[in-house]
Amino acid sequence: MSNNLLKGKRGVIFGALDEQSIAWKVAERCVEEGATITLTNAPVAMRFGKIQELGEKLNAEIIPADATSMEDLEALFSKSVETLGGPLDFVLHSIGMSLNVRKKREYTDVNYDWMHKTFDISAMSFHRVMQTLMKLDAMNDWGSIAALTYIAAQRTFPDYSEMAESKALLESFARSFGFHFGENKNVRVNTISQSPTWTTAGSGVKGFQEFFDYADKMSPLGNAKAEDCANYCIFLFSDLSRMITMQNLFHDGGFSSMGMNPKVLDM
Ligand SMILES: NC(=O)c1ccc[n+]([C@@H]2O[C@H](COP(=O)([O-])OP(=O)(O)OC[C@H]3O[C@@H](n4cnc5c(N)ncnc54)[C@H](O)[C@@H]3O)[C@@H](O)[C@H]2O)c1
Repeated sequence: MSNNLLKGKRGVIFGALDEQSIAWKVAERCVEEGATITLTNAPVAMRFGKIQELGEKLNAEIIPADATSMEDLEALFSKSVETLGGPLDFVLHSIGMSLNVRKKREYTDVNYDWMHKTFDISAMSFHRVMQTLMKLDAMNDWGSIAALTYIAAQRTFPDYSEMAESKALLESFARSFGFHFGENKNVRVNTISQSPTWTTAGSGVKGFQEFFDYADKMSPLGNAKAEDCANYCIFLFSDLSRMITMQNLFHDGGFSSMGMNPKVLDM
């Protein structure tokens, strides 16, 4: 259902790999709500993912960019402004990857070169995105920038490994850069702390099924789905959320406020 909440707005969506990706659902909902968008992902995802399919469906140009490359990001935003016909109203950062998790290295035995790379891809890329947008003056006044995060930034979930620190860094960048972007152009910057969700990145975490079921039982509303997250992003990109900035917003069916749910004991 469309309410034209993003009518006339222009945006860039990072991270749609396949139809399970949270960014995939967000992109679909943005267009449904009247926005025009460009899609981007790492060059390698062009070969393995299905982003071309999404681009055709949404009539959105796909501009490959490695989020750790300043040249790629500059080209992406310059091209997006040109293609979409003006500065951007919203940007979604939906990027996460841990080399130590992928290569099954335990948290107490990490490879630090990989950890650097993980932080660069999963967190510093958010700073890179915002710095590039600001330098190019590519955001409109009262625009909105959001990134996806997870509660492991605040609480310990051992199998989440170095992604916990990546998310803590990501959330901190939202607060710090949110100040500068707010002063600069009234642009708001927030992170959305999403429930466990069945995606390529999510299911790469060890024991994801148990993790997912536990959160689902613990949360009075159950886990928030990717489609729910897309709706929340629409709200954050719309004019209805103009005064929300520098926040980490829990979108998790109530999980973050729970101590114990008796249902979990029955599992
Ligand atoms: N799935 C979950 O349980 C869950 C929960 C909370 C938060 N998140 C976060 O949501 C975001 C999206 O993940 P998802 O679950 O939709 O999985 P996903 O695997 O579909 O998306 C991750 C994306 O990151 C992209 N990416 C990786 N390296 C990149 C690089 N160098 N440059 C540009 N893009 C790169 C991948 O190509 C992929 O499209 C991530 O930040 C993730 O941590 C996921």
